[in-house]
Amino acid sequence: MIISNYFGRIFSLSCIRAYSSSVKPTKQTNEEIPAYGGLSFKEVEEKRHKFLSPSLQTYFFFPENPFYLTRARMQYIYDANDTRYVDLTGQNTSISVGHNHPRVVAAIKRQMESVVHCSTMFYNESPVLLAEQLVATVPNISNSKEDWVVHLVSSGSEAVDLAIMLARAYTGNFDVLALRSSYHGLLSTPMGLTGLNTCKQNIAGGFGVKHCMNPDMFRGQFAGDPQAPDKYAQDVRDVIQYSTPGKVAAFIFEPVIMVGGLHPLPQGYLPKACEYVREAGGLIISDEVQTGNGRPGSHFWAVEKYGVQPDIIVTGKGLSNGLPIGAVMMRREVAESMAHKVFFSTYGSNPTVCAAATEVMRILREDKTVSHITNVAELFLESFLRIQQKYPSIIGDVRALGLLLALDVVKDPVSRQPDRESAQKLLTLIRERGVIMTTGGLGKNVLRMNPPLCVTPEDVKLTENAILESIETHYGKSL
Ligand SMILES: Cc1ncc(COP(=O)(O)O)c(C=O)c1O
Repeated sequence: MIISNYFGRIFSLSCIRAYSSSVKPTKQTNEEIPAYGGLSFKEVEEKRHKFLSPSLQTYFFFPENPFYLTRARMQYIYDANDTRYVDLTGQNTSISVGHNHPRVVAAIKRQMESVVHCSTMFYNESPVLLAEQLVATVPNISNSKEDWVVHLVSSGSEAVDLAIMLARAYTGNFDVLALRSSYHGLLSTPMGLTGLNTCKQNIAGGFGVKHCMNPDMFRGQFAGDPQAPDKYAQDVRDVIQYSTPGKVAAFIFEPVIMVGGLHPLPQGYLPKACEYVREAGGLIISDEVQTGNGRPGSHFWAVEKYGVQPDIIVTGKGLSNGLPIGAVMMRREVAESMAHKVFFSTYGSNPTVCAAATEVMRILREDKTVSHITNVAELFLESFLRIQQKYPSIIGDVRALGLLLALDVVKDPVSRQPDRESAQKLLTLIRERGVIMTTGGLGKNVLRMNPPLCVTPEDVKLTENAILESIETHYGKSL
């Protein structure tokens, strides 16, 4: 099979090196990655504990041995010992085209030499060029001639917050539907929308938010039922009927529930659910902060795979490949509902961030990038299915959409009980073999990856061998 590497270079799968003996991360320094000379981990650890807020200490993938990230290039990250790891986390999906992608770095430098920041009260070419690129990706499933516009902010949470404000202003309705297990950020309204107790402070917020069932096809109430998508959609109708005044402002969903365990919404669910929402006067909001930005491969936005036309798309993270950004894309008419009052944020539309994002969009929309993502995603899926086939008693489920993939680690395949301890142990063993993954789901038993989109077939092989070896090491002869 012939595959393109780094969005362009062509090479053959047969040249993939087999890692037959123990997989080890490599030490690697060269001209581009000189040996590390900054603060030691101990110094950084001490300063972090002393000067940064303790709430930052609550969420670690490796609590016993945190990763000290000192340099990064494309799909690789380096620790202070110059050891190279494949970053399958993409730093929470923030890295799309690759860490320090040279074209994005060049675009940032060019912009910084011209003007670093400019308020939205002045005109500048950078935000308009980005908005033009974004509008060109808007799905037109309903064949409408409507105009779309973009509002740029500085984070995904701000974008979600604004999307809900817009839906309320436009519809005149207040209640908003979200899904259990979803994650939409941690500002007050996004935290209210988020359906995970681990992310909710015990404070008032999220007024008017009603949660519907997560259409979980693996452990949910209707898992295994051929009518499950319809039945889950009926829950949306029931929530509207029993928990709202019968009118709603919006239904917001992640096309793939990400932090909640990487569950792609099942086919057939959204068209029905969205029909009930529209009947109740609500707008459809697709939160594509993680799932969009070209990551599905076959489409630019994951919602396109489900055949529903959103009124609003929210994005962020990978859109700018690591710089702070959020974007709300919507029908012009929706945007006009808030146009009679000031709505602005200081760094929304920052020209430097927009220059990075515009270059990212250019790269993402090139044919060679799209075919690379599609091919390498397929290889990862085949690889994960091979792992499940080999170890069906511990890998209960493989879930994927484009370059978002997960292995659900279970105690046994019948009860499907999450095996958190094993997943955490596997995460550490996989890291020792040069690959960084994350865990997800309330049970923290889902091994998840959302890598830079430039990962290669070699990385697929390395990952497969690292996971297989880790499973063998952890479970030993008990398998
Ligand atoms: C689906 C989704 N929406 C919104 C957010 C919030 O984005 P940010 O952390 O940039 O505020 C996130 C962050 O992980 C997310 O995954």
